[in-house]
Amino acid sequence: MAGDLHGIVASARAALAELCEEGVDHWQAVASSPPATRREPPVPAPAASGGQLDLMGGAPPWPPQPSLEQVREVLGECTRCKLHEGRTQIVFHDGNPNADLMFVGEGPGEQEDLRGIPFCGRAGELLTKMIEGGLGIPRGEVYICNIVKCRPPGNRTPQPDEVSACRPFLDGQIDAVRPRVIVALGKPAASLLLGRDVAITRVRGQWQEYRGIPLIPTFHPAFVLRQYTKENRRLVWQDLKAALERTRA
Ligand code: URA
Repeated sequence: MAGDLHGIVASARAALAELCEEGVDHWQAVASSPPATRREPPVPAPAASGGQLDLMGGAPPWPPQPSLEQVREVLGECTRCKLHEGRTQIVFHDGNPNADLMFVGEGPGEQEDLRGIPFCGRAGELLTKMIEGGLGIPRGEVYICNIVKCRPPGNRTPQPDEVSACRPFLDGQIDAVRPRVIVALGKPAASLLLGRDVAITRVRGQWQEYRGIPLIPTFHPAFVLRQYTKENRRLVWQDLKAALERTRA
């Protein structure tokens, strides 16, 4: 009983800390959505907001179901936003191009920028542990990318113009991989994919949809490292298990 109470208090504290960090002072209920059919082509990318598709002169210059190579080629040695100025290299993706499960994070950190692989630093180690130790599947079986492909200075949150500039490439990756399920890691990825500013503590674990693909938001591994409570680890584990199960449904 005392243990339960400690757990509840710890998770409430973590949730409140994060809400404060996010500047949240109110929230609204989020509806869950029904399952989507396997490998339906994603519905078209959302209309340009902030002119993101205009950055490529209208529609993206790849076919409706591009290959990852086509998307990467168009990305090129990108200078579409200011993040290119500080990067060592573009961090495009990691994993299986035909994955059922796709993880979308925020942006490369220091290690990722140096090595060119998403989620290869401390947060990545935890993500890998959750995938391999928790879900029991090799990391190479899933697909991993970020909403921005270049490291924001000092690992700050990507800014709206940077996210907009990179968004067509994330949509291209989704169109190429056509995952059965997307896991949005943390607030920036969840907010982008849900099209509104969300508090991750409110939406995590609740099924949503992005362009016809079931999507589940969960805590970013870096947040779990900062708030390393049993409860936070349990919640992420629960979300990832739900995600994997849904890929098999
Ligand atoms: N955090 C992210 O969101 N992505 C990475 O690739 C690494 C850390």
